[in-house]
Amino acid sequence: MSEEPRASFGGKLSVILVAAGSAIGLGALWRFPYIAGKHGGAAFLLVFLLSVLVVGIPAMLAEFAVGRRTNKNAVGAFRSLSKRWSWLGYSGVLGALLISGYYYLIAGWSLEYFVNSLTGGMFSSDIPFKEQFDSFQGSWRPMIYGVVFILMTHFIVARGVEKGIEKAAKIMMPALFVILIVMAVRVAFMPGAAEGYKFFFSCDFAEAFKVDTIMMAIGQAFFSLSVGMGCMVTYASYFKKNNNLVSTSLNVSLLTLAVSVLAGLVIFPAVFSVPGLEPSEGPSLVFITLPEIFKGMPLPSLWSAIFFMLVILASLTSTISFHEVLTAYAAEEFKISRKSGALATTVISIALSAVTFFGLFGIDFFDLFDNVTANMLMPLGAMFTCIFVMWFMKKGFMREEITNYGQSNNRVVGVLLFMLRFITPILIFYIFIKNFL
Ligand code: PFF
Repeated sequence: MSEEPRASFGGKLSVILVAAGSAIGLGALWRFPYIAGKHGGAAFLLVFLLSVLVVGIPAMLAEFAVGRRTNKNAVGAFRSLSKRWSWLGYSGVLGALLISGYYYLIAGWSLEYFVNSLTGGMFSSDIPFKEQFDSFQGSWRPMIYGVVFILMTHFIVARGVEKGIEKAAKIMMPALFVILIVMAVRVAFMPGAAEGYKFFFSCDFAEAFKVDTIMMAIGQAFFSLSVGMGCMVTYASYFKKNNNLVSTSLNVSLLTLAVSVLAGLVIFPAVFSVPGLEPSEGPSLVFITLPEIFKGMPLPSLWSAIFFMLVILASLTSTISFHEVLTAYAAEEFKISRKSGALATTVISIALSAVTFFGLFGIDFFDLFDNVTANMLMPLGAMFTCIFVMWFMKKGFMREEITNYGQSNNRVVGVLLFMLRFITPILIFYIFIKNFL
């Protein structure tokens, strides 16, 4: 039986948009503002920025190299380079499974808010938004919307790499930027905006040096860049051989940073404009703060619908990416069709979301899955990937990949290789152990 030729993404821009689509999602729009709100605003931003540069970008490059060299799913990729390291691929698949257990549910929250904005239900009652949020959480609707989100993801992934994933990213990513910039400008005219900017930009260095802050920032860098769980390995397996990995990783990281900062520029001025709201509100921050702001604006339903549409689009390009990790793994490793692989992934994702939603043994699966992925699996996955490509692959493997076999050699390459070999893995290890103790 002759195998179908493997799919690949189109040109340079497509590759950046698809990878940035994976990276930019709830991480930048929802997780970043609430964690920054809890860890000192500017202090967190600073450490996050450094984490992206020192650990995020090198680790992303390592994953790109593994994926593009092998053109295989996460497990197949590591296995074909070294049988003894295939566990690293499985750890990625496990990470994608755990993320599937809670990410869709949160993405579903924005579906509810989008629908409620459109129907006007959100702004027509006098019930405070915090209560609205709590009563939503107490109902079945989060589960229903979670399943709807899984199905939306399913249909895009099942359509395939070029027609589904690439096309979706090309439409959704530019729309996201436009909406976010419009929102940031609008919020600047709110009464308490200046306080918000102060919180977000004046740094308390004592907070920045806390191990806890550094650990959270590194976790956020991995989560936000989709690094450390096979996602960038899988996507890079669809890259063309002439794609410049260094410039792709830089562009993706810059775009992710830009969206995180923009999200902060929308949320924090907004928080300080409404009495009684705190930046340290936690996971519900975006869902309680922003409706308050919209309420004070002309056409609240419209603004709110636009914003939550943005969150939906961004989340969708991310859910597609970890669905793809599992779909590609299932299809290639078990030699089934792509459609069946996607279906199996979808069924498992629904089951895991149900476990998280209905709970088992009184465990908070939201917290558990989020913590295990962002603060354990992803940092360790990234650290071992760096160690693998620099110390256990044949000499020159990384240099060949990131210079496209010598075509784009420059000074940055030397710096990146040095970071990959020493700085990145040692730093992750150090912070990990320190936090553990
Ligand atoms: N980077 C995505 C976000 O910030 O929302 C989440 C994510 C997607 C993490 C894909 C990991 C992954 F493999």
